[in-house]
Amino acid sequence: VEEDSPLQALQYGSLSFTASKGTKDPNENDATVSIIVVGTSGDLAKKKIFPALFALFYEDCLPEVRKISSFFIRKSYAILGSGFSSLSSIYFVPGRSSDIFPCVFQHFTVYGYARSKMTDAEFRNMVSETLTCRIDKRVNCVEKIDQFLTRCFYHSGQYDSMQSFVELDKKMKHHEDGRFSNRLFYLSIPPNIFIDAVRCASMSASSGNGWTRVIVEKPFGRDSELSAALTKSLKLYLEEDQIFRIDHYLGKELVENLSVLRFSNLIFEPLWSRQYIRNVQMIFSEDFGTEGRGGYFDNYGIIRDIMQNHLLQILALFAMETPVSLDAEDIRNEKVKVLRSMRPLTLDDVVIGQYKSHTKGGMSFPAYTDDKTVPKGSLTPTFAAAALFIDNSRWDGVPFLMKAGKALHNKKAEIRVQFRHVPGNLYNRNLGTDLDRATNELVIRVQPDEAIYLKINNKVPGLGMRLDRSKLNLHYAARYSKEIPDAYERLLLDAIGGERRLFIRSDELDAAWTLFTPLLKELEEKKITPECYPYGSRGPVGAHYLAARYNVRWG
Ligand code: NDP
Ligand code: BG6
Repeated sequence: VEEDSPLQALQYGSLSFTASKGTKDPNENDATVSIIVVGTSGDLAKKKIFPALFALFYEDCLPEVRKISSFFIRKSYAILGSGFSSLSSIYFVPGRSSDIFPCVFQHFTVYGYARSKMTDAEFRNMVSETLTCRIDKRVNCVEKIDQFLTRCFYHSGQYDSMQSFVELDKKMKHHEDGRFSNRLFYLSIPPNIFIDAVRCASMSASSGNGWTRVIVEKPFGRDSELSAALTKSLKLYLEEDQIFRIDHYLGKELVENLSVLRFSNLIFEPLWSRQYIRNVQMIFSEDFGTEGRGGYFDNYGIIRDIMQNHLLQILALFAMETPVSLDAEDIRNEKVKVLRSMRPLTLDDVVIGQYKSHTKGGMSFPAYTDDKTVPKGSLTPTFAAAALFIDNSRWDGVPFLMKAGKALHNKKAEIRVQFRHVPGNLYNRNLGTDLDRATNELVIRVQPDEAIYLKINNKVPGLGMRLDRSKLNLHYAARYSKEIPDAYERLLLDAIGGERRLFIRSDELDAAWTLFTPLLKELEEKKITPECYPYGSRGPVGAHYLAARYNVRWG
């Protein structure tokens, strides 16, 4: 293991890789990165991965060698001897500057890998159709697309065929042209074939002299046992530091900003505890159903699809103690501690629902079970609300309420922090304002229309003394002119840069499953029937009763 100080990195003037034993010592201009999208013909690849790769390319984050600032720390090490060789290279000190990218690869190539037969030209055609993203209104977009496509190649093969991956390896070597090679496999395939693909890729197509990393998409198992089995199998072929378990909510701008808000503003952290916070709400809602993904969804349901990962990750970042530093391991250590301090959920803490058909304004909206890929009579929840508790000194007794649902009345993701009442509030006493109006609320709107606002009580201007509730509002669109990058852009860039802060470590995953597995088993064993709610509504009424038990009104 070799580690250089930032000063040494500065002295080098630019970064270089440290080769594993027996390989040449390449410099950055010689390094290549190959990004292999396994399952390239699928929905996720088209919807998210290619647009994100293209946006990075457009922003000059992939192909150009840019001046590396002193903030980069060189950190290279090689783990030899098993499956993939692992060489973790550069990463940037998080939070130093929004403009620091690990843009060090002059040569990058994208490979599509799937069973479908396609030529390179057909693949490029397919990719080009996906490249409508935040970039496509920009200048030179067409030229940039053409340049990007020349870097894209396709390889058709089975996911469990060593031979196919050997052939892929040959193709990659040809393009790497003897340079120092780094390979990032993105497993955009159904989970039942993860292990086959990892086995074949690790044995037949891992890099000989650079790093090899694998991005694994959720779901990471269905419960504690299956998740542990998946981790165990992955670790037959990969070291933990080669596995990048993605939760794209961690790549969302306002989720990343949570720690900045907490730890770099004096005013929030002192209030961040049971002493001042009455309850916290994590809300996810979509105004469409499972359209097209019913087959996948029915096997998982909303608790596994959204709560156990996206909302729980937000909760962990929200509630963790101050990490020792901004290093990935320090942050992930704190997240694990919070998760392990939480009470596993029971049936009593949860309300589940499923959407039914609904007709509105002459339009009819289908029920969940109308989806042809969903079995008739399915009891899979498309909505859930839950009350969670963290049994530590900071959060003892504070309800963390989660709500997640499909086919609701709006699309949003937000965190709501409701503060306690002002003790002996003069204005309640003298003006008779109702208590609820006197309570502050901090809202972090993750999407859409990103914003952070604080609801305060304020005097209405004028000669009298009347109070109203107003917002101190940080509205991103008004404050920042630059558009917000997609979460997948940030996460891909981090994976290429070897930055693990926004990826899930295996002990975090275990802790997350420990919280939800008993509940999920009970729901399934007892065949609990979800409460119905009409497509496009606010969800089942039971969610309001659940919140009311803790004196909470949903925001
Ligand atoms: P798809 O179902 O579209 O599958 C991706 C590709 O895998 C297909 O194009 C197909 O390629 C191959 N494939 C599909 N089923 C099988 C099978 N039974 N056996 C072998 N190969 C198969 O998946 P998505 O693109 O929707 O998702 C990919 C991964 O990302 C999954 O793990 C999913 O859970 C996860 N995910 C997806 C999200 C989304 O929005 N789509 C969001 C978050 C996570 P071919 O036949 O050409 O080999
Ligand atoms: C995915 C879920 O992880 O997140 C989907 O599997 C959901 O069901 C999606 O629609 C929501 O992501 P976003 O970024 O559109 O809010």
